[in-house]
Amino acid sequence: MDSPSTYERPTALTRPSPRTVAQMTQAGLIVEDEGRTRLGDEFRICASRLNGIIKATLQSGERNANTVLITSTKPAEGKSFSSVNLAASLAQTAARPVVIIDADLKPGCLSELVGLRLQPGLFDFAADPQIRPADLAVETPVPGLSIIPIGVPPSFADFEQRRRPLMEVVDLLSVAMPDATLVLDAGPLLSTSDPSVLAPSVGQIVMVVEAGRTQRLELEAALELIRGAHKVMLMLNKVAGRQRSSFGSYSYYGDYYARPNAPPPQAKSAI
Ligand SMILES: Nc1ncnc2c1ncn2[C@@H]1O[C@H](COP(=O)(O)OP(=O)(O)O)[C@@H](O)[C@H]1O
Ligand SMILES: [Mg+2]
Repeated sequence: MDSPSTYERPTALTRPSPRTVAQMTQAGLIVEDEGRTRLGDEFRICASRLNGIIKATLQSGERNANTVLITSTKPAEGKSFSSVNLAASLAQTAARPVVIIDADLKPGCLSELVGLRLQPGLFDFAADPQIRPADLAVETPVPGLSIIPIGVPPSFADFEQRRRPLMEVVDLLSVAMPDATLVLDAGPLLSTSDPSVLAPSVGQIVMVVEAGRTQRLELEAALELIRGAHKVMLMLNKVAGRQRSSFGSYSYYGDYYARPNAPPPQAKSAI
């Protein structure tokens, strides 16, 4: 392994070409070639409600109001799928550009699915303050939507020393791209510490709940971990089974979660 002194972030990589529709489909983007789909409609409804929450947060002038953290209790509950489709819907309907930031380093992560696994991204920005986040963003076929890949993982000994704390990274991203909505596709709350570390510094959180799989106690434990975060919107995924065509409604997990700052019945102070 290289010694710390030889660590260098990848430089002079040309900006990757815009992602293709096929690459975005690989990551779960719903493409409606032949008219609207039910799932697409459901995402539009969720995105519109999320947009309302974001607008309110922006108006309140809260710290990092333009950031949305997408998380769930466990892996494979649909965080990346939801990130891509919520972000695409937001980009198409809201006036602001949207940047998805891959913040979940794992095999099959969003960057890998869209062919950006080896491109500089979030980790590089975390290690090097000279990088402009906008330069890391790769365009997609959805107007107004781009992706910042996960970047080079901390595989060198000194990375952790160079790396700025995650909360600071989110502050810097928010300030560097004030006119965009930043959607952080994060890891699961019960397996990694990053989302709970980030929770207090993001404007809003979308908690993806997988119908029939996420257990109530797990959900409560996860909500407890993000206690103190301002606005948590729960989104029910995979309602009707595993076939995309038969996925039922995406919805909020009760009215409590549609009302920012209202406490949910079970998980106290989660909102
Ligand atoms: N509502 C859905 N309809 C169809 N496929 C879905 C849905 N939600 C998730 N998936 C698929 O399930 C798998 C896991 O989802 P993913 O978003 O990668 O999970 P996570 O990011 O939470 O680990 C992916 O293949 C994804 O495309
Ligand atoms: Mg994911």
